[in-house]
Amino acid sequence: MTPFPVTVRGLGLGLPAGVVTNDDLAKTLDTNDEWISARTGIRSRRVLEDDKALSHIAILAGKEALEESGVDPNDIHLTIVATVTPDTFMPATACRVAAALGCHQSGALDLNIACSGFLYAFITACAQIKSGLAQNVLVIGGDTLSRITNWEDRRTAVLFGDGAGAAVLSAGGPGELLGYDYGAKGHLSEALQITAGPSRPSDNPTDYKTQMDGRAVFRFATAAMVDSSRRSLAMAQLPLDKVDLVVPHQANLRIIESAAKKWGLPMEKVCVNLDKYGNVSAGSIPIALAEAKKEGRIKPGHHILLAGFGGGLSWGSVVLKWGNLC
Ligand code: UT7
Repeated sequence: MTPFPVTVRGLGLGLPAGVVTNDDLAKTLDTNDEWISARTGIRSRRVLEDDKALSHIAILAGKEALEESGVDPNDIHLTIVATVTPDTFMPATACRVAAALGCHQSGALDLNIACSGFLYAFITACAQIKSGLAQNVLVIGGDTLSRITNWEDRRTAVLFGDGAGAAVLSAGGPGELLGYDYGAKGHLSEALQITAGPSRPSDNPTDYKTQMDGRAVFRFATAAMVDSSRRSLAMAQLPLDKVDLVVPHQANLRIIESAAKKWGLPMEKVCVNLDKYGNVSAGSIPIALAEAKKEGRIKPGHHILLAGFGGGLSWGSVVLKWGNLC
């Protein structure tokens, strides 16, 4: 692919204040810090207050990204909120978020492909920009997985958290989209699903909560993330040793370490923050990206690989050359 000029001008974080540690969970669940830490790397997660919804943290993240970008909210042409936990099914959460942020000239849509959501939204934003339909796109990935977790199921309850991250993408350099890849294998969807929904109602409340075959998702995850990255890097014509930083989906430290081994990259080049936040689904990659930027781990000219997987079962990856605008 010919490198396409698109620049991330601003990044933002929206994190709930409430922290729930592994020890907190062990008070009500048959689990313990040792098991959770050893099997997942997670030590705590954030949980949103009961009286707030996804839009609250999506707006926090979007506001920070807009401020950092210097882009006038009225110059945002599209707002995408990637999430599996919208405030409501109507309106789209993106409509509430765009209105609250003053993005009054912006189209607004929610995008649901679970944990791969931010990557799909990022690629969609680039397509809008490349087609000339948009100059600036606000991409937010966020989830309140605490709302769709069965807190009595120790196999899933220890994994998930709430949070949002945002990026403002603008047409033109100095940044570049070098490669991308996404896909889904719907025939594997039962490994990670919620069986009830608006057009498939159920009398059983747990049908509205996340159900997962952890081992099946684990097997899928590493291969999907690594294979997708290879396709993106091939499109970018970039060898792995030229990647400066990888921002992977934060589901399980063992999955990330196994992927790093297959990539042949040292863990110093791989972002990990799941110890603090657990798996935040569509929020996981933008939160890790924004934190890496704040920590000074991303410099102008760096080659950044974003890679993830999730419900669908789905995957995605993006290779960027980082611009120097934010
Ligand atoms: O965004 C995508 C979302 N999901 C994922 O990425 C999840 C991918 N899968 C995983 O991360 C791992 O499979 C898990 C962390 C979910 C589970 O780890 P595992 O090493 O695959 O454990 P397991 O499911 O094989 O369970 C091992 C044992 C079982 O006990 P028995 O049958 O050996 O006696 C489980 O009942 O651990 C038990 N167990 C627990 N024990 C304490 C399962 N959950 C817990 C728990 N605390 N929370």
